[in-house]
This record gives sequence, structure tokens and C-alpha cells, in this order.
Amino acid sequence: MPTRADRRKDRSSSRREFLKASSTAAAGAALATSLDIAPRAYAEGTDTIKIALVGAGGRGTGAVVNVLSNAAHRNVKLVAIADAFPEKVEGARALLAKKFGDKVDVPDDRKFDGLDCHLKVLDSGADLVLLCSPPGFRPLHFEAAVKAGKHIFMEKPVAVDAPGYRRVKAANEEAKKKNLAVAVGHHLRHTASYCEAMKLIHEGALGDLKLLRAYFNTNGIWVRPRKPDMTEMQYQVNNWYHFVWLSGDHIVEQHVHDIDVCNWMAQGHPTEANGMGSRNVRKAPGIGEIFDNHFVEFTYPNGVKMYSQCRQIPGCWGAFSQHADGTKGHADLQGGNGEAVLQVAGQEPKRWPKQKDGHQTEIDDLFAALLAKQPYNEADWAADSTMTAILGRMATYSGQTVSWDNAVKSEYSYMPERLAWDAVPKSKPGPDGVYPCAIPGVTKPW
Ligand SMILES: NC(=O)c1ccc[n+]([C@@H]2O[C@H](COP(=O)([O-])OP(=O)(O)OC[C@H]3O[C@@H](n4cnc5c(N)ncnc54)[C@H](O)[C@@H]3O)[C@@H](O)[C@H]2O)c1
Repeated sequence: MPTRADRRKDRSSSRREFLKASSTAAAGAALATSLDIAPRAYAEGTDTIKIALVGAGGRGTGAVVNVLSNAAHRNVKLVAIADAFPEKVEGARALLAKKFGDKVDVPDDRKFDGLDCHLKVLDSGADLVLLCSPPGFRPLHFEAAVKAGKHIFMEKPVAVDAPGYRRVKAANEEAKKKNLAVAVGHHLRHTASYCEAMKLIHEGALGDLKLLRAYFNTNGIWVRPRKPDMTEMQYQVNNWYHFVWLSGDHIVEQHVHDIDVCNWMAQGHPTEANGMGSRNVRKAPGIGEIFDNHFVEFTYPNGVKMYSQCRQIPGCWGAFSQHADGTKGHADLQGGNGEAVLQVAGQEPKRWPKQKDGHQTEIDDLFAALLAKQPYNEADWAADSTMTAILGRMATYSGQTVSWDNAVKSEYSYMPERLAWDAVPKSKPGPDGVYPCAIPGVTKPW
């Protein structure tokens, strides 16, 4: 894949060549693909690149802001918004229209809600879709967007279980055949300090890597209380962070950022994991089922370990950082602001100060690649990082040592049999209102 510097160099000569993959191709119809077949050129400043949003919450709205503010092409319009809940669609439309005026062109007939809204939005004429719903839906949404021939930005993580991981990998093979651009919201991969430090690590500045460490320790996360008229499905989808089928647990939803950086350092994924975790402070009945702490020891193929901590407990030590220790030195990277230091023994440390927000850069990089007609696909390594986090959860939930090879073959799907507001999710509260959670030593890895 070309480097960011390559893409920037090509950008000025290529701005007018953003190529549309296909507009509203029906499933099964011959699809116009993006980079070499049936190209449609966008003249700079005049032709409009149309985008649609699926999942109009905090990150989805933020991703639209990043796209409408991108550094490569000014003439971008938001043409459709989809969310499970109509009030979220309306809220995002109002907020974005206030900020961007006529760049937000979402009439009532291009607002979609319900659990099938991701399908309806694909007929809205968008060139690029932003998939920002809870991660449990990502494999379904990604598959549908690829089938419809759309360029895609999707948030991390890209799945919550092994069947979802395999579905994303398979759909991505189709995306590659169709030359669709696929970006994934691992913004640290687009933060300059991380890119430069990683280049030095891969060139051997730290010698052989001996130990990697990853931390996402915070106070906790929001809770969205049940409303009296909600079905169980509405409650869980709205309060999605607290259910494994929707978030994957915080080791997958949040800590995947750190795990991905360690995989990037190691240039691969682990082959094995063992760990421990529990639900200590999320005691109030009826909130959900996820743990509030996980510690995992991952092993890479060359024997290097990654020690991984994530915790959502108030009043404890906090950290969002990743660290590499090698035979010649160490590197310490801070996820919150991109500060970094790389220390080789006997040399002055190389320091990077606070960085520009990677969320904007990741979108700028995507648009630069699209305009330059360069292949762009982040889904394979992102899916492997998601699967690494799932492997970690299998280890902490079960208390067993779990191998990558067995984990990826797992057939256990957390997804409900049927997706509808009156359908019953697999996870149900007991008579006391408490959702059962995993019990190490009793729960099977899958
Ligand atoms: N890269 C980052 O730094 C970063 C930061 C925050 C969140 N995220 C990711 O972004 C995603 C969304 O997180 P968020 O913080 O915006 O959550 P959020 O709850 O604010 O937004 C999610 C939205 O998706 C909607 N939704 C639920 N089910 C849906 C469905 N089936 N179809 C369409 N919409 C549906 C919800 O109603 C909600 O409006 C998650 O995957 C999260 O991990 C990434």
C-alpha cells in the first residue's frame, strides 16, 4: 500500500479523478467498480461526492464532520442518514445542517430508521458510506455495502465474534475484487508520531522486540436507562455498550485500539492468549453483562508477549498507551494525544509532541487515495486486530488458554436469531433483573 507521503504527493495532480464505484447498483447487477472500470470523474470543486451515514450517534456525526471538512475535496455532500432510532436521525441532521448548511442535503425521504435502515440507505445515491453503528452490526452492514458497490469508512471494531470476523474477511475479498476503498477507524494508524515511531521500530531501532504492553484503563462508560415503553431489543440496542452481541465487551470495543497498535508493532497477530477478568463494580441490576476489567497475556508466533490491560472502574489508575521493549531500547506511545518517545540505549531520546487529531487525518488520507485512484484497504489488518481482542475475551471469559486457530473457527454467534424490535436477544435478564455474565472456569471459550 502506498505511504501517506506518496498519496499526498499525488494528490494535487489527481484531485479531479475521484472515481465512483457504483451508484445504486441493485444486488446481483453488474457493478461499476471504482478504480478502472466505468470511471466517473469528479471535476474539482464542481462535481459532488455524495456520502451517507449509518449510525448517527457521537462517532458517526463526528465522522461526517471529518468528511465534510476533508482536506482533499471540498464538494462533498451528506445525502442520507440512517439510524435504528428516528430521533437520532433527526438530531444528527439538525446538528450537521446547522454546522454545514447546504452540504447537508437530507430530505425526509432520505432519512431511514429501523433495524434494516442500512439496506434502505444504500439506494440513496451515495458514493461513500460511513458505517458507525454498534460493532455487532458491522459484518452485516459491511457485507451489504460491499454488495452495493460502495466505498466504505467503517468504525472499529469490525465484529464481536468469530463468525462476524470471518464474514468481514470474506466480504473484504469481494471489496478488493471490486476495487472499493475500505477505511477503518483506527485513527492511531494515521497519527504522524505513531507512523514515524513505527517505521523506526520496524527498521530495528529497538533491536529485537522482547515485550509489548497495551493499556486502556478508564473510569467507565455511559449507561442509557430503560424507558417504560421499550421492548427488550430496543433497550439493548440503545444501551448497546453493555451487551456482548452489540459491543463485544470493552476489551473489543475500546481496547482494540491498543491491541491494534501492538499488532502493528509486531507486524502480525498473536497465536495464543490466556487471561483473567471480572465484573466487580457494574453491580446495579439490569444494566448489562460485560466485565469491567480484563488482563490478557498474548503470545506472538516468535514468542514475544503482549501484556494487555483494560479496566473501566472509577478511582483507579488510568492509561491509554502502548509500549514496546526491545533489546536496544523502548518506545512509549500515548493514545490520548499522540505524544511519543523512542529511547535507544546510549542515544538522546526521540520525542514527538502532541499530535493533530488522527480522526481528521484518517479521512484526509482516504480521500487523497480515492482522488489519486490508489487502492486503499484497511480491513484485513483491522479485522485481525478485532479478532485478537475477541481472542482475549475468550480467554478472560473462560479462564482457559485459547489458540488463535481454534478461536477463529468458533461457530458461536452472539447475534439474535431474528433482528426485529419484537425479537428476543439471546441475553435475557433473570427474575431479579440481573443479566448473567461470563464465569471463568465455567464459561466455555465459545
Ligand atoms: N475511532 C474512535 O476513536 C471511536 C470513538 C468512539 C466510537 N467509536 C466507534 O464508533 C461506533 C459507534 O460508537 P458511538 O460512540 O458513536 O456510539 P453511539 O451510541 O453514540 O452511536 C451509535 C448509533 O448507532 C445507532 N444504531 C444502533 N443500531 C443500529 C443499526 N442496526 N443500524 C443503524 N444504526 C444503529 C444508535 O442508535 C446510535 O445512534 C462504535 O463501533 C465505536 O466503537 C470509535
